[in-house]
Amino acid sequence: MESGMDYHTARALLDWQIELGVTEAIGDAPIDRYALPDTAPKSKKPASPAAAPEKPKQVDPVAIAKSAAQSAGSLDELRAAMDAFEHCELKRGARQLVFADGTAGARVMIIGEAPGRDEDREGKPFVGRAGQLLDRMLAGIDLDRTQNAYITNVLPWRPPQNRDPKPEEIGMMKPFLERHVALAKPEVLVVMGNISCQAVLGKRGITRLRGTWEHALDLPVIPMFHPAYLLRQPQMKREAWADLLELKARLGAG
Ligand code: URA
Repeated sequence: MESGMDYHTARALLDWQIELGVTEAIGDAPIDRYALPDTAPKSKKPASPAAAPEKPKQVDPVAIAKSAAQSAGSLDELRAAMDAFEHCELKRGARQLVFADGTAGARVMIIGEAPGRDEDREGKPFVGRAGQLLDRMLAGIDLDRTQNAYITNVLPWRPPQNRDPKPEEIGMMKPFLERHVALAKPEVLVVMGNISCQAVLGKRGITRLRGTWEHALDLPVIPMFHPAYLLRQPQMKREAWADLLELKARLGAG
């Protein structure tokens, strides 16, 4: 691979060659095949059915994710299991795993979408501009990640160019998210934005869903606008504030 080429570019180039019909990898240096000893096989047919090449084994990444997630008995083990999971393409383009931040065991667990550039660099969720707004929103109802809020994302690796996560990526990582919630044991979940609604509630439509309590993963769940959306549409902060007050009332009542 040309030095400096990132994984996704290299992968796209390979896919392109396969589409053109390339079936064999050729080395960088030319080979004089006339100078090679004659090693051509006598017959193209395999000697017997038993000698036929073995088919590559099919792997089911969701089943592997489920089993890895279930075996984790603590948040540290879960982080290690996610770090060792090799079946999600996003891992290859990301700098590092972004697992969680804040106070494990807090009553409130916030679930965002996926790391962006700043999160990928720092290894923590919601540390960029959207994260700073999230912190201000939480402060408005006396929540603080260093004391009483726990934060994670649906996906632990940054998607290339911050593209939307694909449904199969969400499906593959969902067993880890479910286990994460079970181990963190919050009282309520806040799902921020459509990707998080899709992963946790199985539906999208944040404008309609926001502010109304749902039930998923054995917990009350409140959908809210994503802070990145609020940065683009500041006039929607009024709705976000109403949802925060709804969350505060629920915590006060609990
Ligand atoms: N947006 C998210 O959904 N999560 C982050 O961690 C940062 C930005």
